[in-house]
Amino acid sequence: MLFQIVIVAAILACLFVIKQWLSSRKQTLDKKHVVITGGSSGIGKSVAIEVARMGANVTLIARDVQKLESAKLEVTKNCLNPDHQIVQYISLDVGDNYDAVEKALHAAEDDMGPIYLLVNCAGMAICGRLEDTSVSDIKHLLNLNILGTLYPIKAVISRMKCRGEGRIVLVASQAALIGIYGYSVYSSTKFALRGLAEALHMECKPYNVSVTLALPPDTDTPGFANEEKTKPLETRLISQSAGLLSPQVVAKQLIKDTMDGNFYSTVGFESFLLKILCAGMAPVSSLSEFILQVMLMGLFRAICVGYLISFHRIIRNCMKTRDKTKKSE
Ligand SMILES: *[C@@H]1O[C@H](CO)[C@@H](O)[C@H](O)[C@H]1NC(C)=O
Ligand SMILES: *[C@@H]1O[C@H](CO)[C@@H](O)[C@H](O)[C@H]1NC(C)=O
Repeated sequence: MLFQIVIVAAILACLFVIKQWLSSRKQTLDKKHVVITGGSSGIGKSVAIEVARMGANVTLIARDVQKLESAKLEVTKNCLNPDHQIVQYISLDVGDNYDAVEKALHAAEDDMGPIYLLVNCAGMAICGRLEDTSVSDIKHLLNLNILGTLYPIKAVISRMKCRGEGRIVLVASQAALIGIYGYSVYSSTKFALRGLAEALHMECKPYNVSVTLALPPDTDTPGFANEEKTKPLETRLISQSAGLLSPQVVAKQLIKDTMDGNFYSTVGFESFLLKILCAGMAPVSSLSEFILQVMLMGLFRAICVGYLISFHRIIRNCMKTRDKTKKSE
């Protein structure tokens, strides 16, 4: 019985891969305007390069003008038709003031046409146990990661619905599906994005506006390098098994999943495992994915409890080592 299930699962997985490959071959963003928050570095900049290659007009949003200026140059170099494409930037804190966000996005639409795709990459991680995290860091994370995603979406959503087309991407993290040691505040903000994406998907579907939730694992970005500085030993040991992806790989998959209208965008086996395991009431993106969820959820739960046990062992060991060094001092 188990053998048959595995065979069927393997066949479905193959079909799924083939379908994905076929559906994403000749997609273009010609005559489309794409806005990317957090677009001056990391995953955001890689997404900008990706859509520039597909022929889009690009608006980058971030705070640091110097970084925006150099990102703009890099994105411009990757344009498909440099004569017909424009890359511009806006210096703005997307989590600060709603009116400013709305004004900037509407002005960008006046300049470069209606926004077809909004990619919300703005966000950051500060690691540490809750008791070690300052109140100002907590507020900063909530503002940037949650409001910084809500505000731009609120500013564009009614126009997208009116036009009857559009796409919205929320870049969360694997930490939107699991809470682990050292991510108490960060995970709170990313879980919030998952709730937002599910609800928004339901609100937008009748208007032909797609919603995609990206769940990248650790990615080799300036933001990640910064996060490493504050990472407790436990968090590092728990997450090291997953390795580090390049932002280009994450960005490619993100755009592919977005253009296919998939709800989740993931890269790698661990993310696939989590995506199936945590499907819950998430939207169904395809029949093959739905069948995989129904068949694999139980098995994946068993595998993941194995992971959980090893995480708790890591935390106990770290605690013991700490106690020992304290006593010997
Ligand atoms: C980019 O925006 C300019 C100015 O609105 C417009 O003339 C041009 O056609 C747009 N290009 C694309 C590829 O959408
Ligand atoms: C839905 O949007 C897509 C582009 O995202 C467009 O190609 C398609 O024509 C739209 N469908 C309807 C029914 O408007």
